[in-house]
Amino acid sequence: MRLGWTWIAACVAATWMSVSLPAAAADVASLESPGHVLSVTLSVDGDGRLDYRVDRLGDEVIAPSRLGLLLGNARALSRYLQFENAERREEDVTWEQPWGERRLVRDRYTEMTAHFVQKRSGVRVDVVFRLYDDGLGFRYAIPAQEGLDHVEIEDELTEFTIAEPASAWWIPAGEWNRYEYLYQRTPLNQVGRAHTPLTLRTDAGLHVAIHEAALVDYPGMWLTRPEGQRLRAQLAPGGAKRSLPMTTPWRSVQISDDAAGLADSNLILNLNEPNRLGDVSWFKPGKYAGVWWSLHLQTESWAAGDQHGATTANTQRYIDFAADNGLMGVLVEGWNRGWNGDWFGWGREFEFAGASEDFDLDTLSDYAKKKGVQLILHHETGCAVSRYERQLSDAMTLAEKHGVHAIKAGYVCDAGQVQRQDVEGGPIRREWHDGQWMSNHFLRVLEEAAKHRVAINSHEPIKDTGLRRTWPNWISREGARGMEYNAWGNPKNPPSHEVNLVYTRLLSGPMDYTPGVVSLKGRGDTPIPSTLARQLALYVVIYSPIQMLADLPEHYAEHPEVMPFLRAVPTDWESSQLVAGEVGEYAVMARRDRNSSAWYVGAITDEHGRQIDLPLSFLDPKRKYRAEIYRDGDDADFRSNPFAFASETRTVTAADRLQLRIAPGGGEAIRFVPLR
Ligand code: NOJ
Ligand code: CA
Repeated sequence: MRLGWTWIAACVAATWMSVSLPAAAADVASLESPGHVLSVTLSVDGDGRLDYRVDRLGDEVIAPSRLGLLLGNARALSRYLQFENAERREEDVTWEQPWGERRLVRDRYTEMTAHFVQKRSGVRVDVVFRLYDDGLGFRYAIPAQEGLDHVEIEDELTEFTIAEPASAWWIPAGEWNRYEYLYQRTPLNQVGRAHTPLTLRTDAGLHVAIHEAALVDYPGMWLTRPEGQRLRAQLAPGGAKRSLPMTTPWRSVQISDDAAGLADSNLILNLNEPNRLGDVSWFKPGKYAGVWWSLHLQTESWAAGDQHGATTANTQRYIDFAADNGLMGVLVEGWNRGWNGDWFGWGREFEFAGASEDFDLDTLSDYAKKKGVQLILHHETGCAVSRYERQLSDAMTLAEKHGVHAIKAGYVCDAGQVQRQDVEGGPIRREWHDGQWMSNHFLRVLEEAAKHRVAINSHEPIKDTGLRRTWPNWISREGARGMEYNAWGNPKNPPSHEVNLVYTRLLSGPMDYTPGVVSLKGRGDTPIPSTLARQLALYVVIYSPIQMLADLPEHYAEHPEVMPFLRAVPTDWESSQLVAGEVGEYAVMARRDRNSSAWYVGAITDEHGRQIDLPLSFLDPKRKYRAEIYRDGDDADFRSNPFAFASETRTVTAADRLQLRIAPGGGEAIRFVPLR
């Protein structure tokens, strides 16, 4: 027998290996944020498994958490990883947004790229960490290398193990209604499969929000919870197929002492690439009216016929309303062909370059131009997305020809039911709104639209990950339960929903919520859970460069008391700050107009009434202001007395404080105009 010692030694070693614990993890690289607030440490254990942990001011926020990728075409990048070296750099620049919640954004971070090589396969993978004082981003980068020209990423093993017990605000992922759910508040250790942003408040009061930035050519990240406080990335179905070199989107974690630190952070925008489109000044932020609410009330219809909303005469009426109130635009839904019949999740009759017979686009675009108003056309795909792509160029050409600079796009179908048809007449494959193919679809639309100087407001979108920085014609989107739920009902959006949005969905970017339903009534006169003053406050609390006056012109005519505010409130800001608020309870937002020295405040609460002592220290200390206050009446209540409303003016300075008394389900809006 020539087995010899080598063979025996190998057996002994294998047995010994299998019963031993992996050698303790060793730290291999670390990095501190610019102001030494956050630090990240990477470690590799004896099996070559890679963890990161995050400390804030010396306290652990993210306990050691696994990093790795499951590949379909190569060995999983989860074991046998060997640290090679790390490069570090730092940055401190300030950049300007073409439009936004603030004009100037400071981008100050430290960055570390850690290089790893997988023993056995020789595959190289990098992990890049960017640290800010208010959060971090990290991503995988797989460089070009011999023997591997592409990767099929089936899933990520990225984990987020939150060190302390926490409350969580979240909506379910992978469910039929995409992102349109009411937020649940549960202990972290009861979170189910969730979308991001997922917001946490630890028992010690630390605020943490997990999300992602720059979601390009990749599936969206959901979060699952294998156990306890440990969350794990799960990619939306289909995984990602990418050629090399490639990077994943940034996985982001915002970390702050208070709720305001989450709402005011620029982390998501900063993790995105700079503007690729150059000058987009053809897009003008502003407010719009539209043939819309009536469709959801079912008093008018999308489809042509007796009830048709988008007729030439009716659209003229909306243009008049917009012109009379200084609005930027008028949205028309149901203007094009294909609304007849079965469109939900089908969309195979929609035409985007052909108006219905009773809608005269030439006449209307001339009329709008004469009145200083822009038409906003609607492209509902019904999820026949390849069909839409084939018409895209013609549709954008038509828009450009008629002076249309904004399009609202729609993707109404259940999750996972997007229709992809690579060859006309060929087989139809189903895709997810947040799968890799759709992440690219949205960018194909933006690129084509930009060629025609058109901006896009996507409904039923993929989640926002800050791509408006790179493609500043992606002006807004839905991606949460909007006002339409208050038309339909059952249930409508409870007051807590809009407050929850501030600390969850709105961390990701602008939302076309479509506020301003001053009739406070949905379909069949069902009451909307809001006071009148709250409808005004929403224009300041919720950020979007386009904001709808969603109600019918005849309903605004019944409420002249709200029109001065609705006419005045801008949608483009020099600066913004959450001056007070708690996740899920209330929010007080202050914003300065980008085109004047006026300030605006919006405050909303959940179903509890609240007194808020508001210091006006955000105002310019050298000036006096006339505060125009639009508030809940003394006995207002969203359930019993929603129309109780008061307006008053006062002279104030930055040294003053205002006492806000917000009714249950209520709100308050204030305009501060500097006095000479
Ligand atoms: C859902 C959108 O959110 C809504 O605004 C639109 O009116 C309908 N789809 C029809 O496209
Ligand atoms: Ca919707």
